[in-house]
Amino acid sequence: TFSKLPAVGGDTLVHAEGDQSGQPIKVADLSDKITRAWPQGKDKNGNVVIKKDEPNNLLIVYKFAPDQLVAPTNLQATQQGVVAYSGICQHLGCQVGDNASKPETILCPCHSGAYDPRAGCKVIGGPPPKPLPQLPIKLDGEGVTATGPLEAPYFGLTESDWKALLE
Ligand code: FES
Repeated sequence: TFSKLPAVGGDTLVHAEGDQSGQPIKVADLSDKITRAWPQGKDKNGNVVIKKDEPNNLLIVYKFAPDQLVAPTNLQATQQGVVAYSGICQHLGCQVGDNASKPETILCPCHSGAYDPRAGCKVIGGPPPKPLPQLPIKLDGEGVTATGPLEAPYFGLTESDWKALLE
């Protein structure tokens, strides 16, 4: 059903948890900590549907100072430091979270996979084989809208395979 389809360009990001669950995310709601989101789109009848019936559709959204974002972040797919990624670990599919002891990083609670959200969510520790895919976004007034589907950095390769290709 439509509510299981992945994010595509034009989808609005809505809060996935908390008091504002189901409400559109506003830029002012975002910070350098994880805000969980679902994509929301319109089905063929024009009904607005939150795509939350597929757990892998869960997203994480941040707002950083724009100059903190570095490669392999796709900077064309960010605006004013707002950046969005898949919220699902590339190892075995757990939900990733903030890292209380290293706040500038993401930690997966299952096997301690670690990612750097300012650097394209590249893997910085643990077993994940690949970065978290980035969701290209633009700001739409106060809201955040996807401009395409999730995209994998390094052309979908692991960082080491990608580097090997460049040698
Ligand atoms: Fe995330 Fe294993 S599922 S590290």
